[in-house]
Amino acid sequence: MRLRITVLPGDGIGPEVTAEAIRVLQTIAAIHGYRFEFAEHAIGGRAIREFGSPLPTKTLDACLASDAVMLGAVGAPEFDRVPPNQRPEAGLLLLRRALGGYANLRPAISFAPIAACSPLREEIASGADILFVRELLGGLYFGEPRGISDATGTTIATNTMSYSIEEIERVARIAFDAARKRRGKVTSVDKANVLETSQLWRQTVTRVSRDYPDVTLDHLLVDACAMHLIVNPRRFDVVLTENLFGDILSDEAGVIAGSLGMLASATIGGDVGLYEPIHGSAPDIAGQGIANPCGAIASAAMMLRHSFNLEQEACDIELAIEHVLEAGYRTPDIAAGTGGYLASTRELGELICQAVTEIADMRHAYHAV
Ligand code: NAD
Ligand code: IPM
Ligand code: MN
Repeated sequence: MRLRITVLPGDGIGPEVTAEAIRVLQTIAAIHGYRFEFAEHAIGGRAIREFGSPLPTKTLDACLASDAVMLGAVGAPEFDRVPPNQRPEAGLLLLRRALGGYANLRPAISFAPIAACSPLREEIASGADILFVRELLGGLYFGEPRGISDATGTTIATNTMSYSIEEIERVARIAFDAARKRRGKVTSVDKANVLETSQLWRQTVTRVSRDYPDVTLDHLLVDACAMHLIVNPRRFDVVLTENLFGDILSDEAGVIAGSLGMLASATIGGDVGLYEPIHGSAPDIAGQGIANPCGAIASAAMMLRHSFNLEQEACDIELAIEHVLEAGYRTPDIAAGTGGYLASTRELGELICQAVTEIADMRHAYHAV
């Protein structure tokens, strides 16, 4: 098996965590005799500095020609005062649109060994296992018209939230299909008490749900959902929501998992899958070797599952992450209140590689007897 993976390390901690995700993929390749070919390209702030664009043509072409794309993070404080379309983040949004993936899967799991590091009381966070299905190509991020105008004598900034039935329906189907393989429950999140887009969202999701009689559907308003997530995260299975609400609620879910650095994502539905941890470039800790690589490594697992159909290998990586946490190793973001040993980004990555190898060896030994 030969697979071409475009790697976009990006800015800040992006390159630090991506290096560990690649290390784990190389371990998987070595164990199973797969050929993963990695080609690195510039995106975000680094691409602006080197090529004058947050998504150079060469990067985009490489992504479109590959089997999957792995991204670290984009964004740097030096671009904070630049208009949105010239910022590092614009490179990521252009890439998402070009790749065509409209469903962004963001699992948020409270792992038992680090449940105590959540700011939530342990009995609240522990056992939570939520899958956010975030619509990724619509809503305020891409709606037209947008911009800042002085035409009327005063300055007006405009963004547009719009959704078509087709856009809602296709992402809803992804959520219902996912729920079938989990605990059979979808919570659709909107603001139908105020927004027309949300009214269409709710009607459409309700109609799609009739094709899934085995899945339970409920609806929550987004403000209430933000509260319920913290009060009782275990009430959720699959959370289906539009682009901006999903962005906000999934960062909130970082609190349930213990750290933003734990959360992975997969963007599916397009021609080429895009895999990225949900966190940003974390300029406050960049360059120190202390970033948590688990979100990036778990994104690599999602790549194996969703782009390459390597379910067993994906599970092995996820299990390896849990084993290393169980053994007590932690980056500083997940160390509070849980005991254990402090590890650098690289050490945690190497430990997860070792665990992947041990898990594979164990399975071989089991099959041999
Ligand atoms: P952030 O996610 O970068 O950081 C928020 C907080 O979480 C920081 O305190 C950071 O240190 C911590 N954190 C994040 N990831 C961590 C990890 N792996 N290990 C340990 N701690 C971690 O969000 P921000 O500070 O609001 O944004 C910084 C920049 O990143 C901005 O330019 C923003 O636009 C960008 N951003 C990019 C992406 C992306 O590329 N997908 C996602 C979110 C934010
Ligand atoms: C995320 C990020 C991005 C988003 C930004 C960097 C464009 O916050 O992936 O969650 O808002 O989608
Ligand atoms: Mn975000």
